[in-house]
Amino acid sequence: MNDKSALKQLIESDEFSNRLNLDRKTYGLVFDRRTLNAIYEVIKKYDIDYINFPISSGKESLIFNIVLRNGETRALKIYKMSTLKFSNTMEYIKGDYRFDKERINRSNVVYVWAQKEYTNLKGLREAGIHAPKPYGFYRNILLMSYLGTARGPAPQIKDLTEGFQKLYDELKRAMWLMYHKAGIVHADLSEYNILYYRKNPYIIDVGQSVSIKHPMAEDFLERDIKNIVSFFTKKDVTCNVKDLYSYIKGGINA
Ligand SMILES: Nc1ncnc2c1ncn2[C@@H]1O[C@H](COP(=O)(O)OP(=O)(O)OP(=O)(O)O)[C@@H](O)[C@H]1O
Ligand SMILES: [Mg+2]
Repeated sequence: MNDKSALKQLIESDEFSNRLNLDRKTYGLVFDRRTLNAIYEVIKKYDIDYINFPISSGKESLIFNIVLRNGETRALKIYKMSTLKFSNTMEYIKGDYRFDKERINRSNVVYVWAQKEYTNLKGLREAGIHAPKPYGFYRNILLMSYLGTARGPAPQIKDLTEGFQKLYDELKRAMWLMYHKAGIVHADLSEYNILYYRKNPYIIDVGQSVSIKHPMAEDFLERDIKNIVSFFTKKDVTCNVKDLYSYIKGGINA
């Protein structure tokens, strides 16, 4: 008898053979062979029982709600191998002293990305910022806590209808902590990458976040601030780029 899981059998079946060149591209929900192998390893390593439901399918990643054998739920983020643009990605790795010593090439850059998101999430939580708890990563896959209920994931703040002043004040504080305590700049902060969970804003999607020592950190910070101010201005919160910038750079809250 062999004890291989259905997934392993699927990977090894003809449907995923090189003949069809399925390894090279990932369209929609079809995974390339390396990703299928990585999913198989992650299922074993983290004792995953089953994939419950898809949460999001974006250009660069797929996110699923999964259930462990012990009944707990998690979010599983799978970075797509083929759509992560090498040159764009390198901009966020080169110059970040934490990662620029890795030997990076087109085929493993996506692995560094998962590791980077794991490290950044850990940093955020250690700094006291609400963010998913990272449980581990393997190749291009990241396992983190699931923000949401059995009915579905927590909403992005862009979909809220009220409470913006309080939210802005909390985010200001989170951005200050991110800069001074975690020592990173988000670099893709917007109303899409902040979830509203248990009455708090949670920062997500930190694969691209860089150390504040990165040569582009200031530019990324300014872009983040502009995005946040432009969103909250539309929601009638009184704020401006200059004030938020001095608040985040200032030491008053130390
Ligand atoms: N830990 C989580 N728990 C619940 N939902 C999550 C979690 N992480 C991400 N999501 C949901 O999945 C969406 C996409 O996640 P994320 O922003 O990390 O990936 P992405 O690569 O930026 O995807 P996209 O290309 O769609 O922006 C989020 O906007 C959110 O709705
Ligand atoms: Mg996102």
